[in-house]
Amino acid sequence: MVQINLPENSKVQKGKYYKDTTESKNIRKVNIYRWDPSSGENPRIDTYEVDMDSCPSKVLDLLNKIKNEIDPSLAYRRSCSHGVCGSCAMNMDGKNGLACTKPHAEIKGDINIYPLPHLKVKKDLIGDLSTLYKQYESIEPWLKTNTKIESKEIFQSKEDRSKLDGAYECIMCACCSTACPSYWWNGDKYLGPAVLLQAYRWIIDSRDEEKKERLKKVADELKLYRCHTIMNCTNSCPKDLNPAKAIGEIKKMLATS
Ligand code: SF4
Ligand code: SF4
Ligand code: FES
Repeated sequence: MVQINLPENSKVQKGKYYKDTTESKNIRKVNIYRWDPSSGENPRIDTYEVDMDSCPSKVLDLLNKIKNEIDPSLAYRRSCSHGVCGSCAMNMDGKNGLACTKPHAEIKGDINIYPLPHLKVKKDLIGDLSTLYKQYESIEPWLKTNTKIESKEIFQSKEDRSKLDGAYECIMCACCSTACPSYWWNGDKYLGPAVLLQAYRWIIDSRDEEKKERLKKVADELKLYRCHTIMNCTNSCPKDLNPAKAIGEIKKMLATS
């Protein structure tokens, strides 16, 4: 029988335990994935006892509290704190989401926090999104027109504008792509749900004049058709978008064009 072992240096080990020093009666245990490539050590899970009486409601507040009051070495991304920038995406309680919008009260038992799955880790909770950004660039996410326009604005009817609902709200947080099994195994070739939703957003924009070229660009066995409609992407989107449907629409357009 084939035996598959993880390389020794990738095994996650038990880490440090930070005991509460406040004598609070309202303590929760928070387990966090830690890895510092410069240390040469294996990844580990550190456990923090946190006084919840002085912690605001979201997982990001919890991380900020740990970083500010217990362990300043903890690394994670965040910026807006309002579910707008997408930078605080991570895996909490086994599900991808935004730390700044996820209430920690929704998590029962110990709070487990990991980086987004199946990405190379840069440090602690920070995943390497460089491949995804290159793929995003490859779909040329900007308006393309060939017609000379006299006015400064390109007008769009209310009806055409409403077609972008469900697509323009995407904040490129990567929760969907990193929850997609096809993207796990073929992430270097398959564009994944986040980028394909963006491709769709430009394909259907009534002001764009390169619909055909855009469709041609994604019509590829690996770039598009690696989607097997497993729907993990849609289940994991913190903005309640439906990238699987957008992918289906692209396939439909290709089949009928
Ligand atoms: S579709 Fe949703 S999960 Fe995917 S990148 Fe956009 S906002 Fe994030
Ligand atoms: S529907 Fe397609 S993109 Fe979404 S998780 Fe499944 S395979 Fe991935
Ligand atoms: S910090 Fe911007 S989305 Fe969470």
